[in-house]
Amino acid sequence: MFKRFRRLRLHPASRAMVQETKLSCDDLIYPLFVREGEGIKTEVASMPGVFQMSLDVVLEECKGLEALGIKSIMLFGIPSTKDSIGSDALCEHGIMAKAVRAIKAACPSLFVITDLCFCEYTDHGHCGILDVKRESVDNDATLEILAQQALIHARAGVDMLAPSGMMDGTIAMLRDALDGAGFENLPLMSYSTKFASAYYGPFRDVAESAPSFGDRRSYQMDPANRREAVAESVEDELQGADVLMVKPALAYLDIIREVKNATSLPLCVYNVSGEYAMLKAAAKAGVIDYDRVMMETMLGFKRAGADMIITYHAKEVAALLRP
Ligand code: PBG
Ligand code: ZN
Repeated sequence: MFKRFRRLRLHPASRAMVQETKLSCDDLIYPLFVREGEGIKTEVASMPGVFQMSLDVVLEECKGLEALGIKSIMLFGIPSTKDSIGSDALCEHGIMAKAVRAIKAACPSLFVITDLCFCEYTDHGHCGILDVKRESVDNDATLEILAQQALIHARAGVDMLAPSGMMDGTIAMLRDALDGAGFENLPLMSYSTKFASAYYGPFRDVAESAPSFGDRRSYQMDPANRREAVAESVEDELQGADVLMVKPALAYLDIIREVKNATSLPLCVYNVSGEYAMLKAAAKAGVIDYDRVMMETMLGFKRAGADMIITYHAKEVAALLRP
């Protein structure tokens, strides 16, 4: 006696009926990079199909996303001037505040998430205010300016905030600051388990956010640590996050599953720039069936436990999901 697993694989309808994991446009979040200027659309060499765009071009892009069925974006800003504390991010007329206001006016039903961090805005490229020895980022000083940045995005009309700097205490502090200013209904998606990863390489080109010295290992997580990875997300659930995240995705599928099992919040994964670049490079070399590998990768994230996926592939995935 043995079981014939193949019986249900014979007919496409029975295959579809027993499919355990499904991918939909509802799962997708598309990252966008907005910079000052007009008529700018500059492609990133390592990330074909990904552009730095001026706001007028971003607005056109957002309309195109809605037409494709993509309902949510993750916004990053590239300011025209940088300084030691990232002042552009602390100003109502900074690139992000302007972009959020304009996007929400042009596409009111698009769900706009902003990345809350300072590495794009500081001249040293680190994710906050440096400590006196310039060895690392000063956690508590950075929390203070993060609260200001959050309130600027909130007043501009953002739909969800996503702090990505890995400062301890971020979620409790932001929840408090938002509630105190009347934004108790604004959700927080924490980059709760974020590793110090070489897979962010291409992103730092497009966001112009590479650190000018050192690296981010004194605040982002060691890729070797599994227990700590779970503890980071559990802590952010306790502090009041609404959505948790594991980042990067591909090399961390075990962590996605463990975080999913250890928490009860919706879980996002960030399919990062280096992961996207690898698939694009493999396609260009003619060594993979790009569309199929991409869809299999997305399904893998969901099977591992992801409820939503931030991905540069979102437009291509949405086009393939069309009936
Ligand atoms: C900024 C930030 C980074 C990414 C998202 N937000 C880069 C970093 O931490 O250096 C990476 C995204 C990607 O690689 O696609 N804190
Ligand atoms: Zn950062």
